[in-house]
Amino acid sequence: MSKELIRLTDCVVKYDDEVVLDRLNLYINDKEFLTLLGPSGCGKTTTLRIIGGFQKPTSGDVFFDGKRINDLPPHKRKVNTVFQKYALFTHMNIFENVAFGLRIQKRPEKEIEQRVEEALELVNLPGYGKRSVDSLSGGQQQRVAIARAIVNRPQVLLLDEPLGALDLKLRKDMQVELKKIQQQVGITFIYVTHDQEEALTMSDTVVVMDKGNIQQIGTPQDIYNEPKNAFVADFIGESNIIDGTMPEDRVVRMYGKKFACLDGGFAPGEAVDVVIRPEDIDIVPVEQGQLTGTVTEVTFKGMHYDIIVDFQGFKWLIQTTDYSPVGARIGVKIDPDGFHIMKKSRYSGMFGDYSSYSSEYDELNEDTEADDEE
Ligand SMILES: Nc1ncnc2c1ncn2[C@@H]1O[C@H](COP(=O)(O)OP(=O)(O)O)[C@@H](O)[C@H]1O
Ligand SMILES: [Mg+2]
Repeated sequence: MSKELIRLTDCVVKYDDEVVLDRLNLYINDKEFLTLLGPSGCGKTTTLRIIGGFQKPTSGDVFFDGKRINDLPPHKRKVNTVFQKYALFTHMNIFENVAFGLRIQKRPEKEIEQRVEEALELVNLPGYGKRSVDSLSGGQQQRVAIARAIVNRPQVLLLDEPLGALDLKLRKDMQVELKKIQQQVGITFIYVTHDQEEALTMSDTVVVMDKGNIQQIGTPQDIYNEPKNAFVADFIGESNIIDGTMPEDRVVRMYGKKFACLDGGFAPGEAVDVVIRPEDIDIVPVEQGQLTGTVTEVTFKGMHYDIIVDFQGFKWLIQTTDYSPVGARIGVKIDPDGFHIMKKSRYSGMFGDYSSYSSEYDELNEDTEADDEE
C-alpha cells in the first residue's frame, strides 16, 4: 500500500486569541486524493497554507517524507498550489503560461517544449499552446492552471476550491476530469471544498472539519454510511436525526417504541442520536407502519418526491417515488440497516429536524449565488 507522505501533528493556528486550528492531527499518503471538507471559515485554507509553507503553525509540526519542514520555505517544498482564482497571465499565450515555472528554472528550450505539451495533453488541451487565454472557457482556463502546476512535477498538488467559480454542469464534468488527471499523473492531491457532493465524488479520503477541528476522517462511504456525530450526518447528504436510547445491542428505542437495528456497543439505556437517511424510509399503509405521521409538504424533485412528514411535532424528510398528498396519514417502515446510531456529542439537538425545510433550501440557493459572484 501507499506510504505516508505528509503528517501534521498537533497543529494549532491562533490569530490574537482566536483559535483557528485546534490541535490538528492528520496524515496524508503518497498518491492519495484527500479532501478537506467543511463550511466556510472552518480552517480548510489555513490547513492547506500550512502544508504549502505559506503559513507557520503557532505550535505543532509539519513533516514531509519523515522530515520536519516547519521552517522550509514554500519554493523548497515539493508542493504546488492551484487556486480558485487561477490568475493566468492574459498577455501570454497558453504555452507561455504553462512554461512560466520552467522558464524561471532556466530549463533548456527543448525540454520546456516537451514538458509543456505533455502537461497540456494531460489536461486534455493538446495543441492549445498558441491560443490566447481569452479564447478559452472558464473550465479550459482552470485546466491550464492545473497544467501550469503539474508541469513542475510536484509531488503534491494543493487545490483550494478550484472549481468554485464554474457553473454546476461544468463543475461536474471537471470533477471527473480532475480525478482522471490525478490518477494519470500519479501524484498526491490535497483538495479543499465546502461542497459535500464534490468531496464524495472525487476523494479517496475525506476529512470533515468544523470550527478548526477534524470531525471525521474516512472514505466517502464511511463518512456517508457511518457519520461520527450529528454535524457530519447533517453536513453530508440529508439526515433525519432523532433522540433515542439503546435498551440493548441491536435495539433502538424512539417515540416510545423499539426498533431492530444493527448497532451495538452502547451502555444499556444510553441516550443516542439516531440517523435515518430520507431514502431508507418506506411509506406503507397506516396499519402496517412502525410509526404513523402526517404529510405536511410535498416537492417533486424529478427522480423522487421530497416529502415532509410530521411525527409528533418532529418533522422528517422522506425521499420516495410514491406520491402522498399533503394532509395524508401515512405509515413508515425502516429496515434494521436503515438506522445508524451515534453517540451524543456537542452537536446533538442542533441538526436533523426538517421543520425549517423550505428555508433550508433558500439558504442553499443563497450559498450558490454567493459562489457565482466570487
Ligand atoms: N490572516 C488572518 N487573520 C485573522 N483571522 C484569519 C486570517 N486568516 C483566516 N482567518 C480566520 O481563520 C478562520 C479559518 O479560515 P480559513 O482557513 O480561510 O477557512 P476556510 O478555508 O475553511 O473557509 C476563519 O474564521 C477566518 O476568519
Ligand atoms: Mg478557504
